[in-house]
Amino acid sequence: MDTEVIESAIVGKIVIGWNSLGDLRGWVDELSPFKVGVLTNDVVAKFWLDAVLQSLDGDISLFLVRDGEDAKSIETAIEIWSKMIKNGFTRKSLLIGLGGGVITDLAGFVASTYMRGILLILIPTTLMAQVDAAIGGKTGVNFIGKNIIGTFYPPNVVLIDPQTLQTLPREEYLNGLAEVAKYGIIMDRNFFEYLEENARAVLAQDKDIVTNIVKRCVMLKVQVVEEDLRESDKRRILNLGHTIGHGIESASNYRIKHGFAVSVGIVVCCLIAEKLLGFRETDRVIGLLETLGLPTRHNLDPKRIMEAIKVDKKAWYGRQVMILPERIGSVRIMEVPEDLILEALTEVAN
Ligand SMILES: NC(=O)c1ccc[n+]([C@@H]2O[C@H](COP(=O)([O-])OP(=O)(O)OC[C@H]3O[C@@H](n4cnc5c(N)ncnc54)[C@H](O)[C@@H]3O)[C@@H](O)[C@H]2O)c1
Repeated sequence: MDTEVIESAIVGKIVIGWNSLGDLRGWVDELSPFKVGVLTNDVVAKFWLDAVLQSLDGDISLFLVRDGEDAKSIETAIEIWSKMIKNGFTRKSLLIGLGGGVITDLAGFVASTYMRGILLILIPTTLMAQVDAAIGGKTGVNFIGKNIIGTFYPPNVVLIDPQTLQTLPREEYLNGLAEVAKYGIIMDRNFFEYLEENARAVLAQDKDIVTNIVKRCVMLKVQVVEEDLRESDKRRILNLGHTIGHGIESASNYRIKHGFAVSVGIVVCCLIAEKLLGFRETDRVIGLLETLGLPTRHNLDPKRIMEAIKVDKKAWYGRQVMILPERIGSVRIMEVPEDLILEALTEVAN
């Protein structure tokens, strides 16, 4: 299958193809960096660092951080900046971020701030990072709250090799599938149908199907990010299920993963949309999510989720602006009263 290259001023150059990691050298040479560094964590390094290092030569600096969300911190950024200075990184140097969303967010942040911005290549290795985190130029670290400190910084190249997903734990793959299904519901009915028809192959991680879905999701995200420039707030539609999802994550003390919480959040939005927009396709959405191995119900106290949502959204006036589907493939942004949210959360409680 051909490698696809998408280019735009706000998202940078995005290269998607099975085995595209083998082309890294060419993309690096095109940037002619003074020095090159690779930022990754110990888990990803075990599987993919050799492949990256093999395509580079010369003196490569390695910035190895611990696995997990905690690595996305100012302290880690300081460690990397310090090592960059020690290793003589200049404004014309290149940082390569190899890993999931934690690493791509951190690499983007470090690269955008070091000497007011250096060259950046992202190699996302989770489904979540390939279809979402590495696309669109948002970078950040956690500080007191999640993603409080960050920048917008389009990478020079995002190199997406769906082959890297083969070493991903099953749970992480499913976690990313919630975001994949989201794209179909918010803006692409044909894609939703494609996922329904190919669910078995998606779950089996068929090479062509996975490459196709990554390509499609990237194109859809790029489209939203570009439209956001003309129609501000367009980007908000990407948050379908996320307000409820964050509430579920928080009420579960983060035992429930982001994608799984978003999956339940999407169902809650469908139920609310039935009442406010006459949405009639909830069963179909639930059907796809369940076929993809995603949860559609929760075991938590709906009132606790509601409290967590209120804490998350500082400006709470008894109503919440939410993304609601009017049909599969199209959404509206609407204010929703608290009692409707609580009712829907109760309907999907076990
Ligand atoms: N910037 C954005 O627009 C944006 C959008 C969505 C999410 N995010 C951020 O992304 C982060 C979550 O990203 P994530 O879900 O990728 O989590 P993650 O980066 O923690 O990766 C999940 C796990 O998979 C491991 N892993 C990564 N690639 C692997 C591979 N190929 N094989 C084996 N193991 C592998 C990681 O080490 C980690 O243990 C959050 O911090 C979130 O805020 C950012």
